[in-house]
Amino acid sequence: MRKQEIKKGIYYVGAVDWDVRAFHGYSTERGATYNAYLIVDEKIALIDTTKAPFAKELLARVKEIVDPKEIDYVISNHVEMDHSGGIPEVMKEAVNAKIVTSGPSGLKGLQAHYGSQYEYISVKAGESLSLGKRSLVFVTTPMLHWPDNMVTYCPEEKLLFSNDAFGQHYASNMIFDDQVNYEEMMAEAKKYFANILMPYGVQATKALEIVKGLDIDMIAPSHGVIWRTHIKDIFKAYEEWATETLADAAVVVYDSMWHSTEKMARAIVEGFAIAGVPAKLFDLKANHISNIMTEVLTSKYVVVGSPTLNNCMLPTVAAFLCYMRGLAPHNREGFAFGSYGWGGQGIAQVQEQLDLIGVKKVMEPVRMNYIPSEEQLRELEQAVAEMLKTRE
Ligand code: FEO
Repeated sequence: MRKQEIKKGIYYVGAVDWDVRAFHGYSTERGATYNAYLIVDEKIALIDTTKAPFAKELLARVKEIVDPKEIDYVISNHVEMDHSGGIPEVMKEAVNAKIVTSGPSGLKGLQAHYGSQYEYISVKAGESLSLGKRSLVFVTTPMLHWPDNMVTYCPEEKLLFSNDAFGQHYASNMIFDDQVNYEEMMAEAKKYFANILMPYGVQATKALEIVKGLDIDMIAPSHGVIWRTHIKDIFKAYEEWATETLADAAVVVYDSMWHSTEKMARAIVEGFAIAGVPAKLFDLKANHISNIMTEVLTSKYVVVGSPTLNNCMLPTVAAFLCYMRGLAPHNREGFAFGSYGWGGQGIAQVQEQLDLIGVKKVMEPVRMNYIPSEEQLRELEQAVAEMLKTRE
């Protein structure tokens, strides 16, 4: 990616990571970008850095515009290393820069990662910094998704540097939302929200209120493309995702040893079909948990099945439930199911985890011994359809 001017005197200097496929437990099939921006004014500010291995790329782009020694401020919107990892490399050359971070949590986080040898400026919510013709206003967004998160607003340019918020893990050689495939971009924005921001819906709603009160014509996140044409669309989507606006739809997730639990899963999907409720079926052997959670974000029903292996649910199912528990969805409904040979403890364990997550139990766990008969499967379809009718 070459450096690009996104507004007069403001440049994209970040990096594209075409090949990354795993991002702390999240599958990034479309790669990622680590966006950084350089504002050239009377003072020069670099907004965020990149993941450490991309810092030299960032510096090369900066050097096409200015000598890094001329950078006055490195604004660190977020301590997580996909944005701050380049700080040591950048600071070797940006020897006159001060690092701007949010409050005590940003300061503590950066010092813990990179030491105290740099000059830090710790800013409070609403504080501003003059660059000359432009200013930067810092809006703290704590727990969206780390304690230190903030976004940086440039009122003179109607430009918001939103860091993780409104981001997408989406590698592209284009930098604006109207230059890429709309459906792909929105799908990645949804996946990002589901897997990074879902536990923080309350904070996201609050932050959205603040951001919507700003005069904005461009949102430059730290991942993916820059929003300039579809700002209303992403605001609307964030409102729905943050408040967990749910479709009358189901996600049926399972793993199976010898296809019996799989047969049950398929019967459950049929039951949803009889009741007119769209359901998607996910075999954990074939689907990544982060893609499943993207569907869970907007689905009312979550039904999970496992056979029993050595007195436990299958490890794949346990991993999915652990991941879902961390992402803490609210107001979901569902139940556990599975086939078993003798003990069948795995099914109770799935139900126990669904209870802990707060998934309202709408059917007793369904257990079938060894191989379900056709009759049992038809009964299961009808039982699911009947249950759904009672919930209309
Ligand atoms: Fe993109 Fe929370 O880091």
